[in-house]
Amino acid sequence: MEAGSVPVFQWSVNLFKAVSMQKYQYHLFICMNKRSDDDSRGCCFSRGAEEILITFKKEIKKRGLKGKIRANRAGCLDACAFGPSVVIYPEGIWYTVKTREDALEVIEEHLVKGKTIERLLMSRPWARG
Ligand code: FES
Repeated sequence: MEAGSVPVFQWSVNLFKAVSMQKYQYHLFICMNKRSDDDSRGCCFSRGAEEILITFKKEIKKRGLKGKIRANRAGCLDACAFGPSVVIYPEGIWYTVKTREDALEVIEEHLVKGKTIERLLMSRPWARG
């Protein structure tokens, strides 16, 4: 072990604490940014983000997942052209969720079954986290 480096044991302890102290199993951020109609960048809000957020919140509650999974509204996630933008942690997976049905699929496949949904992955190199 080199001076100044974190001992392997301490590193493992820190990692365990970080994992075990994670408050939610999954934490979703849904962009709700709204821009004026004449803004060429567009926005997730105008693409239906509000219905997506409502669907996530209602379905999480309906399935008794509140406390394990949290869906939060977010400001611009800097992926405006690919929205409505949804990012899921801890993996850091980015989805383009355009419809209520897409949101329900994210809940069932990703949040309940733990599967990444290829067809909804945002078409960006970092979408897989
Ligand atoms: S407006 Fe949603 S990512 Fe920028």
